[in-house]
Parts: sequence; structure tokens; C-alpha cells
Amino acid sequence: MDKPWQMQHMPDQSGRVAIITGANIGLGYEAALALARCKAKVILACRSVPKAEAAVQRIRLELPEADLQIVPLDISDIDSVRAFAKRLRGSLTRLDLLINNAGVMAIPRQLTRDGFEMQLATNHLGHFALTGLLLPLLQAAPAARVVPVSSIAARHATITFDNLMGERGYQAWKAYNQSKLANLMFGLELQRRLARAGSTTTAVIAHPGSATTNLFATPGARLVKQVLIPIVASRLFHAPDRGVLPILFAATAPQAHPGGYYGPDGFQELKGDVAAAYVPKAARDKPAAARLWKVSESLTGVDYLSG
Ligand SMILES: NC(=O)c1ccc[n+]([C@@H]2O[C@H](COP(=O)([O-])OP(=O)(O)OC[C@H]3O[C@@H](n4cnc5c(N)ncnc54)[C@H](OP(=O)(O)O)[C@@H]3O)[C@@H](O)[C@H]2O)c1
Repeated sequence: MDKPWQMQHMPDQSGRVAIITGANIGLGYEAALALARCKAKVILACRSVPKAEAAVQRIRLELPEADLQIVPLDISDIDSVRAFAKRLRGSLTRLDLLINNAGVMAIPRQLTRDGFEMQLATNHLGHFALTGLLLPLLQAAPAARVVPVSSIAARHATITFDNLMGERGYQAWKAYNQSKLANLMFGLELQRRLARAGSTTTAVIAHPGSATTNLFATPGARLVKQVLIPIVASRLFHAPDRGVLPILFAATAPQAHPGGYYGPDGFQELKGDVAAAYVPKAARDKPAAARLWKVSESLTGVDYLSG
């Protein structure tokens, strides 16, 4: 990239429709604000309507005319994902941008209504299903993008197909790392399948490096929040409005490549300007990505771009 890509380089988004999961706070909120500034219609897909309303109010303080809509979504619940997609398919004619952002990190083991481990369900399975169910709307747009949000945590991960839900020996961080590797593998595999199908929709993956958000409020990350962030916050963590830049680049920059993976360029990709990110070996394993796709289809009951 020639010069550091910044918020002001975002192209005008007039006439474009964007959905952001988990848009009420953190990086999702910053993405909603930035896209609204560029005149996109932004749909905030959030599990808590009051929290989403508070986010809308904050955005409207700066942008009273912003085109914002709240549509409830619990991404960890496949019935909720189906209901959300049905509602959107009934009200939109096309979708230009889907940012798969909502996430939870290092939480104690709990199961979703569908019986899935919560981190895998929230971070990966729900977004896998959502993307498939919204694909007809994405394909109806001239050049739609899907942006899975991964993490440098993906570097330390493997997909444990024989213990996907952590039934045996659950470790909160291991489960988070696995789910974030799944996000990256999903994005790369999605792009391969879209290209094979001759689609004009593309997938571009991003990770924010590290940003001081509520993600670290979970029990598993308490040490990071209470000890590490106060000491090294300015050196190793972005504020959320900077951490969101790789996501916005992947979502809107004309120079972002289909199937590209973007993050900060500094030490360990924790902080810095937007650049191509390191793709760990496990994420380049195409047979494993195809297997993850199949398993995700069978768990969620949402089949798409198969074969
Ligand atoms: N911050 C970082 O350093 C960092 C680093 C790498 C990757 N990431 C990734 O960035 C993404 C955004 O995280 P963040 O840092 O902005 O964290 P955050 O401030 O905690 O925001 C997470 C968002 O996800 C939503 N969410 C969680 N579970 C949900 C569910 N079941 N249904 C719908 N929404 C749900 C949360 O809603 P509630 O407010 O209702 O809980 C919130 O809006 C995540 O995918 C995370 O893995 C973050």
C-alpha cells in the first residue's frame, strides 16, 4: 500500500446497504458510525435492542440524518439467524456489505439453545448461517462484500474436528482461538467458492490487531483488562476507532483483494497501519477449510455454494 490508509480514504457509500453484527458497541459500533458518515444505509444487527437504540442515539448526535435501522439478532441462535434473514429478505432488494463482527472471547463453557459451544456458535456458526441465508441478497448487489472479522488469535489455533464443541477438556482461550481460525478459514473458503460460482460477491477478511473494547470484560480476559491494558494500552492497543480500520478497509477499499486478509502492520500485528496480514499455515489448509464448511452446513442446516 502506498500510504497509510485512513478513515478519510473510505469511498462514498451513498445508495449502499450494510449489515453489521454486534454494532452496538466496540468495533462494530465504530464501523456503523464510519459507514453512516459515508452515507451508507446501516442495519445494526444486535441482540439487545435497548443497547442498539443507545448506539443509534450516539450516532445521531453527530449525524442526525443517518439512515440507520435496528434489526434484532442473536447470532448464537440459529432460529434467530433464520428469522433475521427472513425479515431482511422480505424488506431489502439487495445487500452490498455484510460485516460479520459480533463476538465473544474466552468465556466459561456454555451451550447455546442449539447445543453448540457458545464461542464457536457466536463467532463462527451463526455467521456461517447468516452469510448463506443472506447470499441471495448479496448476489443481487453489483459487487457485494462479506467481511469476516478474525484475530491474531487464529495463529495459535487448530480446528479440533473430533472435539469441536469442547466436550472434552474445554479451555476458554483455545475455544476462542479455534473460532477465530474458523472465521479466517471460512472467509478464504467463501471467496474460493464464490469465485468458482462466477459470483460478483467477494469475501475480504480483516483482523483489528488489539483494541480496547468490552471484549476484554469477560472472565477469561480479566488479567489482560486489569493488568496489561492499563500498563501497555497506548503501546500495544488501538482505541476502537483505530482498531476498526482494517475492517473498514476490507469492507470498502477498492484496492482490497478478494480473499485478502488485512490487519495492522506493527509488532505482531497488534497495532499499526492497515496492511496485508499474516495467514497462518492452518488457515491455508484447503481440505480442512472444505471439511469445516461441510461440518458447519450440517450443524446449522444452512447449505450453500456446495460442490
Ligand atoms: N478488541 C480486540 O482487540 C479484538 C481483537 C481481535 C479480534 N476482535 C474481534 O472483533 C469483533 C468485535 O469485538 P469487539 O472488540 O468490538 O468486542 P465488544 O466491544 O465486546 O463487541 C462485541 C459485540 O458483539 C456482540 N455480540 C456478542 N454476542 C452476540 C450474540 N450472541 N448476538 C449478537 N451480538 C452479539 C456484542 O453485543 P452485546 O453488547 O449485547 O454483548 C457486541 O455488540 C469480535 O469478532 C472479536 O473477536 C477484537
